[in-house]
Amino acid sequence: MDHFKDKVAIVTGGASGIGQALCEELGRRGAAGVVVADVNVEGAHEVAAAITAVGGRAQAAELDVTQAEAVQALVEQTASQHGRLDLMFNNAGISTWGEMRDMTLDHWQRIVDVNLWGVIYGTMSAYGVMVGQGFGHIVNTASSAGLAPSPFATAYVTTKHGVVGLSTTLRVEGVGLGVKVSVVCPGFIRTGIGDAMEFVTQLEGGTKEFVAAAIPKMMEPDDCARVILRGVERNKAIITVTGLARVAWWLNRLNPGLMLRLSLKMVSDTRAMRVES
Ligand code: NAI
Repeated sequence: MDHFKDKVAIVTGGASGIGQALCEELGRRGAAGVVVADVNVEGAHEVAAAITAVGGRAQAAELDVTQAEAVQALVEQTASQHGRLDLMFNNAGISTWGEMRDMTLDHWQRIVDVNLWGVIYGTMSAYGVMVGQGFGHIVNTASSAGLAPSPFATAYVTTKHGVVGLSTTLRVEGVGLGVKVSVVCPGFIRTGIGDAMEFVTQLEGGTKEFVAAAIPKMMEPDDCARVILRGVERNKAIITVTGLARVAWWLNRLNPGLMLRLSLKMVSDTRAMRVES
């Protein structure tokens, strides 16, 4: 029987990209209830409707992951409606690109609120329910930027390292209480994250164009979702997605000196294009 058949899952950031692909794949694989939770409620309704239109079981929920009480309420409501919560995917996230010296505390606040506090709220709420029922699996989305330095993304990297630390440590505490914890670390996936990205440093020829051109071949979200669910089924601690993510992780552990030299070159090449405002 499919591992995800009759499972009850919440996916935050389910209206787009990786979250949407996870919802659709869970729906296809017979999940008993997929809660498509997103601050973009219209998008969440569209994803849930598309899943039910092909025979899946899904519902939309408006959720801003920066609101702790709202996250707690959705988790409790889902568990009481279905009698349990099997899977919590804390996937919603945003990104910024640019130098630390161009960032304000507001930039930091926004990204930490969504990428770190959002994951903490989702984890705390689901963990409470799952410890109570004696089973469940929390799956937090970090990034390859949670496993190695990634210049010009200091705030994003900070949040993603935090998510890796939270997940790998809670995984150990969860043993004996029936709760599994995994963390997902993708490389580049073709999603809407770039459209919503904040660029705080200006480069000659346009920052957005430069960043887009620097990104290597991207994986499709559907393929990413399948890799994630295979990792969840195998209860992997760290689920890397894309070869690039695996190379960055290995290189940072096996040869941090080389990783540093590559990063320094990237910084100096990029800085040469900097436009002072
Ligand atoms: P996306 O932009 O396509 O989807 C993100 C979703 O999160 C959107 O539907 C958005 O409305 C939602 N969201 C944003 N703020 C929210 C909030 N406060 N409350 C609830 N929902 C909110 O982006 P993508 O790429 O699918 O990102 C999903 C996760 O994957 C993020 O955590 C991201 O950091 C991570 N990731 C993405 C990579 C990529 O290359 N696309 C690479 C590594 C990690």
